[in-house]
Amino acid sequence: MSSAMSSELVVSGMRPTGALHLGHYHGALKNWVRLQTGHPCFFFVADWHALTTHYDSPDVIEASIWEMVIDWLAAGIDPAQSTLFIQSRVPEHAELHLLLSMATPLGWLERVPTYKDQQEKLADRDLATYGFLGYPLLQSADILMYRAAWVPVGEDQVPHIELTREVARRFNHLFGREPGFEQKVRDAAARLGGKASKRYFELRTRYQEQGDAAALDEGRALLQAAASLGQADRERLAGYLDGSRRQILAEPQALLTEASRMPGIDGQKMSKSYGNAIAMREDPASVARKIRTMPTDPARVRRTDPGEPERCPVWQLHQVYSPEETRSWAAAGCRSAGIGCLECKQPVIEAIGREQQGFLERAQPYLDSPGLVRDIMADGCTRARAAAAETMRDVREVMGLAYKGLSV
Ligand code: TRP
Ligand code: SF4
Repeated sequence: MSSAMSSELVVSGMRPTGALHLGHYHGALKNWVRLQTGHPCFFFVADWHALTTHYDSPDVIEASIWEMVIDWLAAGIDPAQSTLFIQSRVPEHAELHLLLSMATPLGWLERVPTYKDQQEKLADRDLATYGFLGYPLLQSADILMYRAAWVPVGEDQVPHIELTREVARRFNHLFGREPGFEQKVRDAAARLGGKASKRYFELRTRYQEQGDAAALDEGRALLQAAASLGQADRERLAGYLDGSRRQILAEPQALLTEASRMPGIDGQKMSKSYGNAIAMREDPASVARKIRTMPTDPARVRRTDPGEPERCPVWQLHQVYSPEETRSWAAAGCRSAGIGCLECKQPVIEAIGREQQGFLERAQPYLDSPGLVRDIMADGCTRARAAAAETMRDVREVMGLAYKGLSV
């Protein structure tokens, strides 16, 4: 990651699913832990999101939250570096969601791929609800609230980040006016100097009338290079160039988490709903049992049959857990029938054991004093609300809701 983006804010959320498994750790949490040292990070429990699909089982949310947050801490999320909070304790998210909903075309939400997919996948529940349709917009509010630059997510969430960008752009376009904007643009352009100013207006026309992306790029580069401009003028001209006007909400980027190749104990993708998961804080004896009974290359019926690692889910665990040396030992031993499968599995069992030892040690103080976790979340909620309040002040103002002189 380049240092230029090192202070840019990161936001991500997770639904409260209870205890997390190794797939969550290697697919998401490990990345969060890495990000928190270089960026301000806001990580939150998406409890309202859980209700968009599971509004009929609210009783499981509470216990799931504490289990999950303990696993965040066990993974190494550091509350002194990252702000951890619970979505529903920062009600500004609901306010921003509502305000964004005013100008979000219905079609944008209906076209989000997860809308139809999830309705088909979760066919046992009634998802023809207003909340479910709107949930990607709630996610947009979660992100835009903190003017996040980066959102670490899996592939499946990328359309939601794209929607978020469109929502931000539309919001800035609709509400990013300032009094006398056009005059201020003309004054700023004059500061560019005659030739550059003429070029700027040409490029703008080309982009606005023909959608010429190269013209937009050149125009942005021109503004970037213009030493005579102050920051406010540069932003005005940038806004006038692409039609967004003043930037009130920032367009975030997805930070793609590399798809975790973590297989479950049946070789399929690790998932709680498949019943093939190993929990982050699972008892070591149970882990050993699960790995020892894992299927291997079906061609290795007997110990003397050579195998092919590429056909074996245990090999995928070696990819995650074993250093190069162990991997070549396993691959060679498998192909030559020089080692048995139980032997091959042993280093994986040990490596998972070592990883889990760290999780268990970091979790213990929180298990001993559950109040600590409550305090961390309360403190994070306070910090998140302060940041949210700033954005909401701007949003209310540009949407005509500032009501100067009113004391409530
Ligand atoms: N929708 C995400 C999921 O189901 C969770 C989520 C909610 C989220 N709000 C977010 C992720 C904001 C990133 C940013 O996994
Ligand atoms: Fe899989 Fe290892 Fe057995 Fe080969 S030796 S089939 S890689 S468990």
